[in-house]
Amino acid sequence: MSKEIRPGHSASRERESASEVGRRSIIQGLAVSGCLAATGLLGSVPACAQGTSSKRPQPGQRFVFMTGDKEGQPVTPDDVKVGEPPLLVYPMDPATKTVISSRASLLILKRIDEADLDTSTKPHSAGGIVAYSAICTHEGCPISGQHENPRMALCNCHGSTFDLGNNGTVAHGPAVRRLAMLPVTITDGELVVAGKLDGPIGPPTS
Ligand code: FES
Repeated sequence: MSKEIRPGHSASRERESASEVGRRSIIQGLAVSGCLAATGLLGSVPACAQGTSSKRPQPGQRFVFMTGDKEGQPVTPDDVKVGEPPLLVYPMDPATKTVISSRASLLILKRIDEADLDTSTKPHSAGGIVAYSAICTHEGCPISGQHENPRMALCNCHGSTFDLGNNGTVAHGPAVRRLAMLPVTITDGELVVAGKLDGPIGPPTS
């Protein structure tokens, strides 16, 4: 496992800024999903986070940008680059073009150097791209923070850090449970969901 690198002071300021962007984005997204009233903005929302199985990503679905200039547009493998922050996305049914917008389906994509992926994680990746539930397992905030270590993802709410190169395990708390991982593959140049999330979403409910 790579050595953890904690963000410095300037990184903290960037983190705060990124947090605000993330909060605005998620609020917009949750308004679409109908979960906003239940969440209390970005607080703990285990009931909503779990969702129904139909709202979880399903094999064969594609990915669309959750926010930004390309919001709603398909994500290509080239859109996910090494060293960039986790990319917030929703799955999309390729036949009906229906975007599955819910907390249970909110995901992060990140590309990691394949040589830096653990052996248990690599079979579920595609060209170094890994996918996980975006819902922090501490108190349910969306995870969108950049970390100095390119295989890590940072939750801006309380600083939990997850190792996306090692099954989403917790590298730094207060979260104690790993992120659920979603297998992906590349088919005919498209990034495709290749399985189901391999664990519960969000914080423990008891
Ligand atoms: S909600 Fe993510 S660290 Fe607290």
